[in-house]
Amino acid sequence: MSVDEPLVLGIETSCDETGIGVVRGTTLLADAVASSMSEHARYGGVVPEVASRAHLAAMAGTMREALDTAGVRLSDVDAVAVTAGPGLAGALLVGVAAAKAYALAANKPLYGVNHLSAHVAVDTLEHGPLPEPAIAMLVSGGHSSLLMVEDLAGRVEPLGATIDDAAGEAFDKVARLLGLPFPGGPPIDKAARDGDPVAIDFPRGLTSPRDLQRHRFDFSFSGLKTAVARWVEARERSGEPVPVDDVAASFQEAVCDVLSRKAIDACRSNGIDTLLIGGGVAANSRLRAMATERAERYGIRVRVPRPKLCTDNGAMVAALGSHLVAAAVPPSTLDIPADSSLPVTTVSLANRIGA
Ligand code: KG4
Ligand code: ZN
Repeated sequence: MSVDEPLVLGIETSCDETGIGVVRGTTLLADAVASSMSEHARYGGVVPEVASRAHLAAMAGTMREALDTAGVRLSDVDAVAVTAGPGLAGALLVGVAAAKAYALAANKPLYGVNHLSAHVAVDTLEHGPLPEPAIAMLVSGGHSSLLMVEDLAGRVEPLGATIDDAAGEAFDKVARLLGLPFPGGPPIDKAARDGDPVAIDFPRGLTSPRDLQRHRFDFSFSGLKTAVARWVEARERSGEPVPVDDVAASFQEAVCDVLSRKAIDACRSNGIDTLLIGGGVAANSRLRAMATERAERYGIRVRVPRPKLCTDNGAMVAALGSHLVAAAVPPSTLDIPADSSLPVTTVSLANRIGA
């Protein structure tokens, strides 16, 4: 770590995690996260208004924790980066407003950045610079996309995305069906370890030759979720116990099979040998193992950040901010909006709406 490298603060509030990270160059100095997850658990999903209020309540304390852990003061930072979108509108607004205030108070440049690109950038903190071009697969509760990352500082193109539920959403809904807690990814991952992944042959969405013609790099998980629901209902009707571990393992196998197959196809068809997997579902142990093993057969290197960096956090925003500073990308103006449907092609907001 060199003191010449930019010291960047990152603020993330697009969903239910208030994350504040501090990085210098590609070195992680602090990653403070306050989650409002427990407040949403009883609703089985994130309640936007509850999340926004929780961000507001957590912001100052999380900021203090991040700066203290990093051993720096706000006046030491070279730039403030913030998730400007996509995400929940009210939740994003809290982060964007706070970032503007901190940037203005400390007289530092502001970078409004894309949440998806930040999920890609976080990997540089663990595995160093990303070879470009690379394919990135982002799978979380809110998004499932395959991206071509030509230049992490500005050229990211979508190859495909989910046409219905996100991968993490499928984990959350299936967990609910099985009586497992929210968020559903971790308990399904755990239950699946004791189950048989070939016990039930669940459907693999958008993998038939006909679907592949139109949706080669797109995903669909809602049919799979319905198939699991039907299977569980039939079992309950017949009075037999539901083998939770086997259902979890077979469901997880179907998701991981489709995700890894399509991601590797995206690499091979574009002649790319680096696959990055990010987002909350990238914490899944079976996905990590399956994608790595399958990719190796084709000489493709899989990069997956450690689980804590896969779920939403501020370090990922700081990592992208630091990359933008190093690439001499101009900062955003102080009147940038929070954009809940920010397109994936907009890595950072140059300036105000319409300009
Ligand atoms: O990236 P993230 O923290 O927030 C969003 O941007 O959505 O992702 C949260 C999602 C949840 O749906 C959660 O169930 C899923 O990631 N998840 C997992 C695992 N850990 C978290 N899914 C599968 N296996 C896991 N181990
Ligand atoms: Zn995310």
